[in-house]
Amino acid sequence: MRTRPAPNENRPTPNFDRLARLYRWLEYASFGPMLERCRFYFLPACATARRALILGDGDGRFTQRLLQANPFLEVDAVDASAQMLQQLRQRVASSGTDDALRVHTLRADIRAFTPERRDNDPGYDLVVSHFFLDCLTPNEIDALADRLRECLAPDALWLISDFAIPQRGWLRPVAQLVVRSLYFAFDCLTRLRIKKLPDYAGALEQHGFFQVQQKTFLGGLLTTELWQKQSSKP
Ligand SMILES: C[S@@+](CC[C@H](N)C(=O)[O-])C[C@H]1O[C@@H](n2cnc3c(N)ncnc32)[C@H](O)[C@@H]1O
Repeated sequence: MRTRPAPNENRPTPNFDRLARLYRWLEYASFGPMLERCRFYFLPACATARRALILGDGDGRFTQRLLQANPFLEVDAVDASAQMLQQLRQRVASSGTDDALRVHTLRADIRAFTPERRDNDPGYDLVVSHFFLDCLTPNEIDALADRLRECLAPDALWLISDFAIPQRGWLRPVAQLVVRSLYFAFDCLTRLRIKKLPDYAGALEQHGFFQVQQKTFLGGLLTTELWQKQSSKP
């Protein structure tokens, strides 16, 4: 895997280190089990993947479950936070199996990261980004989708979970308030410097991915989606 010098749109790399140990408990305190339900909903669709790239993996709860569900999978997990990656490695190692041997962690700002192609390898057949694309701007997602496309196997899946604002109804203003509050908190705690949810769907479609399935939770405040790489770019 290659990393370039820090990117960007004058935005520092956010620092989630301080949150790493508490992250899970803060999540349970604010959303109960709902984020986990969302993350794990499409886990069965990942059971046959062979090589996965997990972006902004955080404390590794999804990776642990993914490795348990798929004994043949190899995982590359990329995150900018050393403490999050430490949590991930500990969690996977605590399974008491040799799952840890199938995970390779890399500390990098995703905006400066390009996976390396292996010789005679079709590329990753699974990308996962749970509650991560909302840490990027639309331009950054656009550049990411462009770089990743070249490193993915034909028909590769991209599993995405994120917050969303329902199009209409009384939940819309509630969701707007929740999302604004979350961005305010993350900005104070991590210097995230992002203020609104990006339109990742537009960027993915532009780079030749299409949505296969979607499931929403909490009236549309949470969404989890399976996307797939098209054989050719539009
Ligand atoms: C909101 S947390 C989500 C963690 C996990 N995927 C989950 O489902 O809860 C965002 C994660 O992305 C990482 N992150 C944020 N911006 C990043 C960037 N530009 N490059 C790499 N990692 C980043 C953070 O360190 C953190 O672990």
